Amino acid sequence: MKIIACYSNKGGVGKSAAAVNLAHAAASAGVNTLLCDLDPQGASGFYYRVKPSKKLQDDRFFTDVKKFTNAIKASDYPNLDILPANMSYRDFDVFLSRMKNSRSRLKKALKSVDADYDLIILDCPPNLSTLSENVFRAADAILVPVVPTTLSERTFEQITEFFRDEGLSDKKLVPFFSMVQRQKTLHGETMARMRETYGKRFLDAFIPFTTDIERMGAHRAPVATYAARKTGGRAYDAFWQELSSRLKLT
Ligand SMILES: Nc1ncnc2c1ncn2[C@@H]1O[C@H](COP(=O)(O)OP(=O)(O)O)[C@@H](O)[C@H]1O
Ligand SMILES: [Mg+2]
Repeated sequence: MKIIACYSNKGGVGKSAAAVNLAHAAASAGVNTLLCDLDPQGASGFYYRVKPSKKLQDDRFFTDVKKFTNAIKASDYPNLDILPANMSYRDFDVFLSRMKNSRSRLKKALKSVDADYDLIILDCPPNLSTLSENVFRAADAILVPVVPTTLSERTFEQITEFFRDEGLSDKKLVPFFSMVQRQKTLHGETMARMRETYGKRFLDAFIPFTTDIERMGAHRAPVATYAARKTGGRAYDAFWQELSSRLKLT
């Protein structure tokens, strides 16, 4: 089983959009997938029309295997299950700080479903916290959406610095450009500069800013189900193709 996190300490950059569309692409390719929503705002669950789980409250997420596995719901799509978030997730850091091995708790919780899935995708909240450290330790790859602006460039630098400071392997970091507006000179320049700085680490595939993707909220479904041949659907398809071959997912 492989674990991929969609992570950035910046909000509104396309983490949930990536998690939702990747999960659908993987499941469609026959990869048995669990999409695990770690953000109390619950975007992934919303897009898949799965209700928040009321029973998986407090620190039970990390301590009660039965409650954890019972909270996993089937989606409307073959090969795809969802673990929806609930509002108690906003206190993850409080629970974790009280626990022993507070930085490897998520890895341990996910181990309980190791045999059931080929792939787990984590949709993460935007912060650098004990939960994020759990994510960094649990994940085989950490997908970081980078909107090609000056501020996002700094955000990505902060993440790589954090990895260095904590002695974590930054090889896990897989950045990609998100919400790209080709007509903006700044976007083009930032992309060129960052590709030069970070070399092959950036995925070639990038996600453009397009209404096809914005409409996910109205459709409450992944882009491929209503705009497979449009810009948004094609972008996530290319994204999945590159990622699955780089991470040997299929
Ligand atoms: N490529 C895109 N083009 C246009 N809108 C997008 C794109 N990606 C995400 N959005 C929209 O931007 C908002 C934030 O995206 P989201 O994936 O929820 O970000 P995050 O999870 O990083 O906070 C959402 O309303 C979403 O529909
Ligand atoms: Mg999100």
